[in-house]
Amino acid sequence: MSTLVHPEVQTTKDYLPLNGTDYVEFYVGNARQAAYFYRMAFGFSLVAYAGPETGVRDRASYVLQQGKIRFVLTTPLRPDGEIAAHVHLHGDGVRDVALWVDDARQAWKETTRRGARSVREPMELKDEFGVVKMSSIAAYGDTIHTFVERSDYHGAFMPGYRAEVGMSGVDPLARPVGLKYVDHMVGNVGWNEMNRWVDYYADILGFSLYQHFDDKDISTEYSALMSKVMANGNGRVKFPINEPAEGRRKSQIEEYLEFYHGPGVQHVAMATDDILETVGKLQDQGVAFLKVPHTYYTELEGRVGRIDEPIEELEKLGILVDRDDEGYMLQIFTKPVEDRPTLFYEIIQRKGSRSFGKGNFKALFEAIEREQELRGNL
Ligand code: FE2
Repeated sequence: MSTLVHPEVQTTKDYLPLNGTDYVEFYVGNARQAAYFYRMAFGFSLVAYAGPETGVRDRASYVLQQGKIRFVLTTPLRPDGEIAAHVHLHGDGVRDVALWVDDARQAWKETTRRGARSVREPMELKDEFGVVKMSSIAAYGDTIHTFVERSDYHGAFMPGYRAEVGMSGVDPLARPVGLKYVDHMVGNVGWNEMNRWVDYYADILGFSLYQHFDDKDISTEYSALMSKVMANGNGRVKFPINEPAEGRRKSQIEEYLEFYHGPGVQHVAMATDDILETVGKLQDQGVAFLKVPHTYYTELEGRVGRIDEPIEELEKLGILVDRDDEGYMLQIFTKPVEDRPTLFYEIIQRKGSRSFGKGNFKALFEAIEREQELRGNL
């Protein structure tokens, strides 16, 4: 006698359909200067601006775009208020991971009904270019998710913003490097909190578990972490969630939590179709990446097999490679982009693989720990 196992048929409707990431908003100490860095070093174009000149009294916001990636850099103009408090506590960091939806009211209703804490009830902003509808809910730490509905909007970004050079033509400061879209965004949460936030994304946003790494996968002599990757129904939005694990000394996640003063976005991974060209340009433009030991490259072909890219080119730039049964992927990590060792970036090129570079974790962690040791935080 044999037992037939029928694969479970997915019948439940996705109650929170997401079209992708709409924007990532950072609260920063000086948005004008941060915008210069993202234009000159990372190649973003300035497409919109809001501030006193557009009738906004308490803040200035610069909207930057490259491919489908949109960053909003917002700074407070006065010492009071939630933006100043956020910068005071966290330093520069991500406040809002905004998600593009077809119905911002429905997204808010479905998620708050399931237990999300509302940060902003559904509201509309209008100008001569149309209507943007928004609502927001709280996520880990002081991070929020704003649902943005913009099907009826044809302006630069949103009502309240004016178009800037990059909207109509070429931003003379921008030096584009070929970044296309946000591949994933990683959150660091506190000790034993990973599963709570995994449940939040599952129960409240309808995400499901995509991949799972435990501390045996991701540990070095000193530090360890655990990670679960949550993805939405159509797979366009992926949020790995990390928590620290016991190691001999302080892990990079603990260092982040200490300097960010709580949970927050650890890194944003941005995709390119040509990582050699993208990373070459980023390095020329002053972006600093983690260094990888020479031994990583002597062992590379044995670990991942044949790949299209010349290994000496990868080594020159410090690009990592990992393979799974679907293909391979190339990735590299910047050093933190602020003085506090908090937010950094990943550049990623996928060639079939849907993984997050499990095979690289050890090599990478050892590189991160060398940096941590230099800061006296290991
Ligand atoms: Fe990543």
